[in-house]
Amino acid sequence: MTETVASRSLGTRQRFGETARRDAWWLQPLLVLGVFSAFVVYATWAAFQGSHYAWGPYLSPFYSPELFGDSPHAWFGPKPGWYPAWLPWSPAFLILWAPGGFRLTCYYYRGAYYKGFWADPPACAVGEPRSSYRGERSFPLVWQNAHRWLVGLAIPILGFLCYDVWQALRWEDPATGATTFGVGVGTLVLAINVILLTGYTLGCHTLRHLVGGYLDRLAGRPVRRTAYRCVSCLNRRHGMWAWVSLFSVAFSDLYVRLLSMGIWTDFRIL
Ligand code: FES
Repeated sequence: MTETVASRSLGTRQRFGETARRDAWWLQPLLVLGVFSAFVVYATWAAFQGSHYAWGPYLSPFYSPELFGDSPHAWFGPKPGWYPAWLPWSPAFLILWAPGGFRLTCYYYRGAYYKGFWADPPACAVGEPRSSYRGERSFPLVWQNAHRWLVGLAIPILGFLCYDVWQALRWEDPATGATTFGVGVGTLVLAINVILLTGYTLGCHTLRHLVGGYLDRLAGRPVRRTAYRCVSCLNRRHGMWAWVSLFSVAFSDLYVRLLSMGIWTDFRIL
């Protein structure tokens, strides 16, 4: 170890995995690798299913807004005729790329999965597997800069998810066909999911810069100052919001899916 510290002080590059740290520095990157990979695999699988994404008044957040599709939630009817016949079809393909891309390019997740997926670096003060650093100015990571535009899509999608919660309060009476007010466990699942996704989305670093730009000129702009404080407050725990919303959005899809497949039963609370 003495030799390691001495060589580092002389500017010698550490070998891959070399470190003076004695804590379990590898645990967090390993967890990120496992959990994030599982989420990406599940979300991709769920998107390709193209079925079991709606049940009663509930719609899976992976498919919302459902622009075209076979469920009663579809805005513009079934699969459009202009959609290429040779391409696989799922209503999720038209929408999931936006929130998915927003999450994949999130600054917090980048910091986490760069360590977990390609050890760049494996952790702070741990030797990296490569000596060059091309950053996010060149292909392929230059695409990460799309985050600043994807936030503009993620916020309206929150509005659609709120609308889905409203719809999840409107139950159709099978006998009369009339719509009545009701709350099921699924309503709560979708509502909690929107709250967690809102906490995650509105704490975005990019949004903080957008809202807080020219902060020194906010003296006469109390609305912007309040917005900046709210975003900053959420931003302080952005990592926490990122993980809880990841679990909630995946669970919401799973909940609706298992109801639709007849595996789970939804209980009416009101
Ligand atoms: Fe995480 Fe924008 S930085 S959502």
